[in-house]
Amino acid sequence: MAGEDELALQEMSSEAADRLRGSYRERQARMMQDEAFDQLQQQRQRLPVAEYREQFLRTVSRQGVVVVSGATGSGKTTQVPQYVLEDALEGSGPLPNIIVTEPRRISAVSVAKRVSQEMGDPDGPGSKDALVGYQIRLEKKVSKSTRLLFCTVGVLLKQMQQGLGALGKVTHIFIDEIHERSADCDLLLLLLRQITRSSRPDLRLVLMSATLETEKLVRYFGSASSVPVLSIPGRTFPVQQFWLEDVVQMTGYRCEEDSDFAKRGWSRGWQTEKKTFQVADKGKTQTITAYIDEEDDWGLGPSKVSAVQLAPLQIGMEPRRI
Ligand SMILES: Nc1ncnc2c1ncn2[C@@H]1O[C@H](COP(=O)(O)OP(=O)(O)OP(=O)(O)O)[C@@H](O)[C@H]1O
Ligand SMILES: [Mg+2]
Repeated sequence: MAGEDELALQEMSSEAADRLRGSYRERQARMMQDEAFDQLQQQRQRLPVAEYREQFLRTVSRQGVVVVSGATGSGKTTQVPQYVLEDALEGSGPLPNIIVTEPRRISAVSVAKRVSQEMGDPDGPGSKDALVGYQIRLEKKVSKSTRLLFCTVGVLLKQMQQGLGALGKVTHIFIDEIHERSADCDLLLLLLRQITRSSRPDLRLVLMSATLETEKLVRYFGSASSVPVLSIPGRTFPVQQFWLEDVVQMTGYRCEEDSDFAKRGWSRGWQTEKKTFQVADKGKTQTITAYIDEEDDWGLGPSKVSAVQLAPLQIGMEPRRI
């Protein structure tokens, strides 16, 4: 029986791997009929990282160390380690033993729960036949079938300090949020660099972050030719710009074309300045704060609103010219 601190991943015979693969495939076929599960899979497909699945799998099968840099929310944490496991489950070879380190206990647990759900585990992380588990200090949810383990940096480091033999069964290590650069994380990198260069050249190491000084990391582990960097773009959202008159109009007031405040159509990229003014009617006053581009006289120069804060207007006020 594994001790409380011992890394929970266990070896698996080829018969046990075949059985697990069979139960995974049967479960997937059944769950795809479930609308909620189908929608979850469609959500995964829409993540920016999904387009890079095959490229990542090809790269990680060839290279010892891979850097994955991607915008926040692009799907690094939940998807990239999952791709390795899914790919193996879809194939016929041995199943991998994957460790993903998170800087904090809460993220290790919440991400494990999410990935477990996406993989269709029967009863969450660590349940019987579940592929996903987690291990943080004093708490672990793992089973014999766990092939993807989320843990804290501390849990992995502690194991490695006690003996590198603990990593014998591990095939892939993902270090997530690597930019946080805690002392623990730096020590982990140092040890992993030694291991991948000496006793475990077959170990796959994937370093992930949203904001990453990739050159430094690449240099630390080798060179640009030996440490590929996969950059995943984020999703962009349409940004709509409003002019001061547009905003005034939204409040139910009207801004005449010849008003000093009428600036629509003017844009010369002048300095941004914060201005506030009052809109009043029948004793009710609203303050509008506008950030406008202008030179010196905002009443005369061209202005463009870049942000506006409006207090909620009273219903029933008559529109009036300002
Ligand atoms: N527990 C969850 N419940 C619902 N949606 C989730 C959950 N975890 C992640 N997601 C969604 O899955 C998508 C991918 O998240 P993921 O954490 O993999 O991105 P990431 O690239 O690692 O982002 P970050 O750089 O912020 O860590 C996000 O759009 C997120 O909203
Ligand atoms: Mg993440």
